This record gives sequence, C-alpha cells and structure tokens, in this order.
Amino acid sequence: MTRLATHEIIRLEVNGDDRVAGVPTHFTLLETLRYALGLTGSKQGCDKGDCGACTVLLDGVPILACITPAWEAEGRAVTTVEGLGTPERPHPLQDAFDRWGAGQCGFCTPGMLCSAAALLDRTPEPSLDDVKEALAGNLCRCTGYTKIFDAVLDAAGVRGGGPGADNGENEGGDAG
Ligand code: FES
Ligand code: FES
Repeated sequence: MTRLATHEIIRLEVNGDDRVAGVPTHFTLLETLRYALGLTGSKQGCDKGDCGACTVLLDGVPILACITPAWEAEGRAVTTVEGLGTPERPHPLQDAFDRWGAGQCGFCTPGMLCSAAALLDRTPEPSLDDVKEALAGNLCRCTGYTKIFDAVLDAAGVRGGGPGADNGENEGGDAG
C-alpha cells in the first residue's frame, strides 16, 4: 500500500480480479467498491454497521464493508454480489431467491446473498436455525424473511417442494 498525504493506493483482489484503487484515506471498503471501482451491487444503507446491506466477503468471511477501512482489504480477496454469479449463470442462491420471490425492493438482497453464500460454504446443509443465525445481521423491510429463509434452504437442497409448498420448515417470519 502506498500512503500519500490524503490518499492511499489499495491493491486487492475483487471477484477474482486484481484491482488497484487510489482512494481518500478515510474511505471505507464499501466506498472503495462503489465509488472507486464502480461495483454498486453492495448497498449503502445505514452506513454505520446496523443493516447488513453492505455485506461482502473478505477472504470468504462476511463483513460489513461500510465500517471496514479500505486499507484492511489490502492484499486480500473480496467477493461482492457481482462475483457470485451472472445473469446467464446465476449462483444457486440467486436462482432460488428469484423463484421464491425472496427479493422485493432488492435493497437488502446483495448483502443477504453474500451472508447466505458464506453459510452454504461452511454448512452445505443448514437447518432453518442455521439460516436465521447467519442472516441475523441482515435486515429486510419488505419480505418478512420467510421467503428468504425458504430460498436459502432450497438453494442448499434441504427444502423440497418448491415455492408455495409447506414442508413444516416454513415457520420463519422473523430474522431475530
Ligand atoms: S450499510 Fe453497512 S451495515 Fe448498513
Ligand atoms: S427486499 Fe426490500 S429490504 Fe429486503
């Protein structure tokens, strides 16, 4: 990392690509992603660590990019929602969110997807409680959470029946 008076040069890997960004020294990782690298999928919600809309993966671990200084990502691997899948080849979570109607306004969705992707990496067959715990830091004002939980369980292959079916695991409705 090169530090100048008011700016610093950050080198990091984003979604598998080596990237370099010159950013003000006060920039967070979220500001670096959105305003220096043009990756606007990660959302700037509360901007103070409360809502989870800015969640990205840092070396595979979900973190809140809005309260993570940019320099903390120096030399590390960042995965944003743009790196999970593409419109042509969506991540299984993205496909399940679409089929279950788990995104409404969509503002929480990138952070939800990143938190859920990390969960499925470490726990390929999660329980409903595992999903609730993994997403406890991601707030949603629209969905009531149930469809999100269903979509994550569906993507993991542990919830059969598809959208509209009730297999007894659908008692969610509250992230807390
Ligand atoms: S924008 Fe980061 S937690 Fe809300
Ligand atoms: S879909 Fe609107 S906040 Fe979650």
